[in-house]
Order: sequence, then C-alpha cells, then structure tokens
Amino acid sequence: MMSKFMEWIDARFPATKMWEDHLSKYYAPKNFNFYYFFGSLALLVLVNQLLTGVWLTMSYEPSAEGAFASVEYIMRDVEYGWILRYLHSTGASAFFVVVYLHMFRGLLYGSYQKPRELVWIFGMLIYLALMAEAFMGYLLPWGQMSYWGAQVIISLFGAIPVIGADLTEWIRGDYLISGITLNRFFALHVVAVPIVLLALVVLHILALHEVGSNNPDGVDIKKLKDENGVPLDGIPFHPYYTVKDIVGVVVFLFVFCFVVFFMPEMGGYFLERPNFEQANSLKTPEHIAPVWYFTPFYAILRAVPDKLMGVVAMGGAIAVLFVLPWLDRSPVKSMRYKGWMSKIWLWVFCISFVILGVLGVLAPTPERTLLARICTILYFAYFILMPFYTRMEKTKPVPERVTG
Ligand code: HEM
Repeated sequence: MMSKFMEWIDARFPATKMWEDHLSKYYAPKNFNFYYFFGSLALLVLVNQLLTGVWLTMSYEPSAEGAFASVEYIMRDVEYGWILRYLHSTGASAFFVVVYLHMFRGLLYGSYQKPRELVWIFGMLIYLALMAEAFMGYLLPWGQMSYWGAQVIISLFGAIPVIGADLTEWIRGDYLISGITLNRFFALHVVAVPIVLLALVVLHILALHEVGSNNPDGVDIKKLKDENGVPLDGIPFHPYYTVKDIVGVVVFLFVFCFVVFFMPEMGGYFLERPNFEQANSLKTPEHIAPVWYFTPFYAILRAVPDKLMGVVAMGGAIAVLFVLPWLDRSPVKSMRYKGWMSKIWLWVFCISFVILGVLGVLAPTPERTLLARICTILYFAYFILMPFYTRMEKTKPVPERVTG
C-alpha cells in the first residue's frame, strides 16, 4: 500500500530521490565530533524562532502606542504567552551561541577551504541576515534599550560621507525613531528577513551536500571508495547521524529549558533591564549596550576614535570573514595538522573576540579603551597575517584515512 503510494508520488515529485540524496545515501565522515552538533541545533533553533514568532505575532501590536503594552499583555494575559515570549527571546541568544560554535568549528577544521568556499559564504550571509533579524526584533518590544540601541546603530549610518544624513532618515522613515520605524522593522523582522534566512539555509545545505562534509581530520573521504562507490570512511547520514543528533538535541533542550524556566533574563544579558521600561525619546538610559552577541563588534566600533573609521572597522571585522577561504594558504585543513603558528593565532583571535565581547558590555574607561584597541589589532592581525603564517609554518602529514 505504502510503496504503491510512494511510486505514485515519485512519478510526480522526487521525494525518494531527495530522501536518499540528502539523508539515507548521503555519506558523511564517520568521525564527526561534538562540534558537528551545532549545524542541526541551528536548524532546531531556527524552527523554534519561526514557530514562536508566528504565535507572538498573533497578539503583538506593531505601533508606538501599543507595542510595549501588547508585550505585557502577552506576558500576563495571553494563555502561555509568557512561555512563547521566553522561548523566542532565549532562542535569539541560543541562536548566536550555536552559530558562534558552528563557525568556530569551521575555523578549527578549515571547513571553509576549497571546495567549501560557497558553504562558508552562504554561512556568512546567514550570519549577516541573523544579525539584521536580531537587531530589528529588538526594537519591537519598544523598551528603553530597544529605542536607544536602535538610535545608536542607525545613527552610525550618518557617519557615511555625503549620503549619511539622508540615509539615516530613509532607514527610520522619520526624523527620529518613531512608530513608522517600528512598523517597517516589524515587516522586515516578521516577513522579509525570515524568508531570506530560510532560502540561505537551503542554499547552505545544498552547497554542502554537493561537495560533502569536512571532518575533524580534514581528510577527503571521497578519495577512497569501495566497489559500490561508497566512501570507505563514510556512513549514511540517516540513521547514524539523525540518531546521534537527537542526543545533541536532548542535551541542548535541557540547557535551553533551564534558561527559559529559571533565568530567562540571564542576569540582564538576554533581556536587558532598561527594556522593562517603555521607550522614551526624552530620556536617554545611563548606559547603552547592545545585547551580548553584538558586543565584540560594538567594542571595535568604540575602540576607534573617529566615528567613520569606527564604522569602517566594525564593518571590516565582519567583511574580512567573507574572504577567509582565500586568506588560508595552508596545504592542510584541520588544526590537528597545521603548525604551531596557526594554533597560536586561532587562540589569540578567540581570546581577543571574547575580551572585546566583555568590553562591549562595560562602560568605557581609558584602560578599557586601550585594551579594546589591542584586541582589535589582534583580531585583524589573525586574518591579515594568515596568508603568511599558514604558508611559512611546517605542517604535519595528513593521514589517508580518518582517525578516531
Ligand atoms: C541558521 C544558521 C545556520 C544553519 C541552520 C546551518 C546549518 C548547517 C548544517 C545543518 C550543516 C551540516 C552539519 C554540520 O556540519 O554541523 C552545516 C555545515 C556548515 N556550516 Fe552552517 N548553518 C548555519 C550558519 C552558518 C554560519 C553562520 C557559517 C559560517 C559563516 C556556517 C558555516 C558552515 C560550514 C563551513 C559547514 C561545513 C562544515 C564541515 O563540513 O566541516 N554555517 N551548516
């Protein structure tokens, strides 16, 4: 009965072919480790954001007069509204935790190197879309930090010569951030950017499945195949990795639910305190800081004395990641076989990124600004020096087959 039904479908739509190409006959390296959980977890968080977002939209009011009160209404009166909101707000931070670890895996195992450049580029476009999505979503509760955070970031466009002033007005749709800005951010946050994100995720995975996954050894498993053309070091994604990923999902959900139920504000890092007060264009909060996932870039912005150059540095810090596949000239992919210079620079980069993140939350002092400047230089040095140290250093021989 079932197979007759599938025959009928397959004659009209490539359902079985897609299942085989992407799951049951997609051969993934058998040595995936901890870091390989985060791609599927990012998918899980994406689904969480889409579902909870749709239900929040049912009770949210996108107007300067009603937005703040409608969020209070969702929290207090809408059945299960509080859990929908906390799942969505915690999901936003979880998204960045998962994506940062997912990107770190790329740096660690050289997953951006040939032939996966496009996988990386699509990933970076996802990252950009994700930042836009988070930024616009944060305006919607119309709290003090929503308002003033958006004020700081949008006014940065004003630093661009010639068109700056007109551009900021065009983005806001008004002379100051108003209900008009809120309305357009709502449209973009709820409709436009999610469509772009979904499309990019599909392209990301299609590009990956075209070339096959990398692995912690950076060994090309397609080189050695058995008589049926199956890679010797490959295992079908389904059932092996679908089942393994469920383990990751369960552990993730434990942590995620703990935050949702016991510490949804995360000490002011996931939901900032000033945001419990309604937006007021006449009262600037004492200390304006973006949510934690933007703070490394915010610290880079503040580290540069000139406003325009600060914006350029902040943009450059993200832009440089796009060209990473062409900066790494190492003959090997994985950090396991790269030389000591690559290892040290990756450490330096990660530590600088974290320090910048911490500094971005804190109010600036002369000492902190100095530290932010040093970390900004180290952040860029990791990339700019990469073509040199990856070529100069001595690498270890890569094995034929994957190791444990
Ligand atoms: C919504 C966000 C994202 C989703 C849903 C997503 C999904 C996935 C999935 C399911 C995989 C295969 C499983 C795995 O290797 O973990 C993957 C691989 C990969 N992703 Fe993403 N990704 C996202 C964002 C990003 C970002 C921001 C980057 C980097 C800029 C990136 C770079 C990569 C790379 C290089 C691979 C191949 C890894 C390898 O084969 O070693 N992804 N992604």
